[in-house]
Amino acid sequence: MTSPQSYIRKNIRLECSHTVFFTRDSFSTKNDTLSEILQPKREGNRTKTLVFVDEGIMDGNPNLLEHISSYFRSREDRINLVCPPKFIKGGEPAKNDWGLVEYIWELLNKHGMCRHSYVVVIGGGASLDLVGFAASTAHRGVRLVRFPTTTLSQGDGGVGVKNGVNYFGKKNWVGTFAVPDAVVNDFSFLQGLPKTQKRAGYVEAIKVALIRDRSFFEFIEENTEQLSLFEDKTLEQIIRKSAALHLDHIASSGDPFEKGSARPLDFGHWVAHKLEQLSDFKICHGDAVAIGLAVDLTYASKVGLVKPKTTQRILTLLTKLGFPLYSNLLHEVTEDGKQVILEGLEEFREHLGGELTITLIQGIGEGIEVHAMDREAILNSVNDLQTLHPSLTN
Ligand SMILES: NC(=O)c1ccc[n+]([C@@H]2O[C@H](COP(=O)([O-])OP(=O)(O)OC[C@H]3O[C@@H](n4cnc5c(N)ncnc54)[C@H](O)[C@@H]3O)[C@@H](O)[C@H]2O)c1
Ligand SMILES: [Zn+2]
Repeated sequence: MTSPQSYIRKNIRLECSHTVFFTRDSFSTKNDTLSEILQPKREGNRTKTLVFVDEGIMDGNPNLLEHISSYFRSREDRINLVCPPKFIKGGEPAKNDWGLVEYIWELLNKHGMCRHSYVVVIGGGASLDLVGFAASTAHRGVRLVRFPTTTLSQGDGGVGVKNGVNYFGKKNWVGTFAVPDAVVNDFSFLQGLPKTQKRAGYVEAIKVALIRDRSFFEFIEENTEQLSLFEDKTLEQIIRKSAALHLDHIASSGDPFEKGSARPLDFGHWVAHKLEQLSDFKICHGDAVAIGLAVDLTYASKVGLVKPKTTQRILTLLTKLGFPLYSNLLHEVTEDGKQVILEGLEEFREHLGGELTITLIQGIGEGIEVHAMDREAILNSVNDLQTLHPSLTN
């Protein structure tokens, strides 16, 4: 082996800021949030903008397309909607369809979008991941404004820096890290969201509270009833705080692009990812994370990391909020008798890039990393959940 004889090393500073706005009725002509984000950098220019809309949000927002068009018309001296907003399908099917990536690239190419142009995407986490991926790979990165429209994406994924689509049957196998130019959390989009989906944001809020902020967990506990009734004010408080904690983690962890193998925000997610895949995405992300947390918390108390009564307290909260804690798929076995759920651990290790790092907790608000999990104790935890909690049959 020969070592290099010389090398040049320079530090590259990547200063970038990440802003999340909270608003309502973004496309009312009185609301300046988006037009300020799209403000042309030079006097006399008009910012080219292409808008993608998750078709799933149309029932709850039937006049959205007209509102978007009149919004851009009212400011056409500065912002240029290059074509009418384009629909894309929503949910996981959007991330399973590579043709959609090419469809978005084609539109960006056709309309001569460049790195100073903006792609705006309005939709759930899946459509944000898809459109964000296509935008971040066109010209090595066209600007992006995200409008998350689910509680889950407003409080969690939508405020992050990751994009991706599914490939080889694996979640987010292709993707990029790219800081969006802005995220606009518009609470009025949540109106038409079905209840199961409204609830999904709660579980990511509980997850981030469990690893980082005990008082936030207590706030959620104190407001369980209001949250079960989906009261707007409490729901919005939870989303704001959850978004702030997620953003804070990304900005302050020292590893926004996940070069290391620690993924505290993925607490409960190794099981969740496997369950979503096994159920062909019939188990939604929120329910899958609740079950994932239940497995990891039961495990943590079984191996003596956390007190059993702490686990019980958290599982009680999840149940009161209507989350399942068990699915029959946790007990699925392969033809040669192997427990399928354990494959999730191996896939998670691969996803992390080598070293297995699982976040568990040792108390409420106190995340802890472990680098191995006892397979027998995982299976015993799954057995406990089957006995104690009603099943989600899929
Ligand atoms: N990039 C990240 O960091 C990150 C983090 C967490 C999750 N995610 C991804 O986000 C996805 C889950 O996102 P999600 O939970 O937001 O749901 P989703 O995007 O899967 O949407 C679920 C359904 O809700 C519909 N929908 C969206 N907004 C609506 C509204 N306002 N009213 C009515 N229907 C609406 C969609 O059309 C879809 O049919 C997963 O693919 C997950 O992997 C990404
Ligand atoms: Zn999640």
